[in-house]
Amino acid sequence: MDSIFSRVEKNVDDLVRNNADWTACATYEQLRDAREGKLRLDFYGKSIPMEWLSDIKGKRVLCLAGAGGLQAPLLACAGADVSVIDISDKMLEKDREIAKREKLKIRIAKGNMCNLSQFCDGEFDYIINPPSLMYVPEIKVVFQECCRVLKQYGTLIIMAPNPINYVCDYITDEKGNGYYKAVHKMPFCSLDYDDSGWIEYGHTMEEYLGGLLECGFWINGYMECQMEDITELYFLVRAVKR
Ligand SMILES: C[S@@+](CC[C@H](N)C(=O)[O-])C[C@H]1O[C@@H](n2cnc3c(N)ncnc32)[C@H](O)[C@@H]1O
Repeated sequence: MDSIFSRVEKNVDDLVRNNADWTACATYEQLRDAREGKLRLDFYGKSIPMEWLSDIKGKRVLCLAGAGGLQAPLLACAGADVSVIDISDKMLEKDREIAKREKLKIRIAKGNMCNLSQFCDGEFDYIINPPSLMYVPEIKVVFQECCRVLKQYGTLIIMAPNPINYVCDYITDEKGNGYYKAVHKMPFCSLDYDDSGWIEYGHTMEEYLGGLLECGFWINGYMECQMEDITELYFLVRAVKR
């Protein structure tokens, strides 16, 4: 299992070196707006509904697998008491740089989201988890840890890819016409199809929503973001610790 996570860490570090889209940090304008009470956390062309975060000021927030200098600095500018944990040093470096430049107090921790032992039971009011559960083979382990480190009635917000991202392959026929075809059974693991070293898991909605319910959460918010490509469908779930 450790070799999976060290491979993911290397893959992410390589993407940071190549400036992948999702390694972009918060802009000056976004940071300024968050300071002025107009916090916005974007998610594939939409934003997390602000009523989900309306009382964030002064709250203890964990950005789970959430480094990259985006969510953590914005939440800190909005007045939250922020910790961020991530497996990638290169992503964490970005938070460190912005925290220093903007004089923000952010607890920056390297670690695996499957093991949150560096945090205490009931330590957080909120956990915000940007898209990252696709790098973990067993998401229930993460939900159990989230449940442990959240206070009672604490909120977990996860962002994740819908399984359709993994079910289809793009096929080009002999006339050069392209179309999507459902070819992969879920759950999906890239290691079954690809020997490039890329590791990604396509989890089922049962694993996501059923997993949250089984691990001690109520689900009280759900939103989808459809991108132009029909297989690029993402979702956002708000869950509360029972
Ligand atoms: C797509 S990025 C999300 C963060 C980015 N700020 C965003 O909003 O898109 C996925 C993040 O998950 C982290 N990650 C992947 N697997 C992890 C694990 N097992 N434990 C902690 N972090 C992990 C990666 O290092 C990366 O920073």
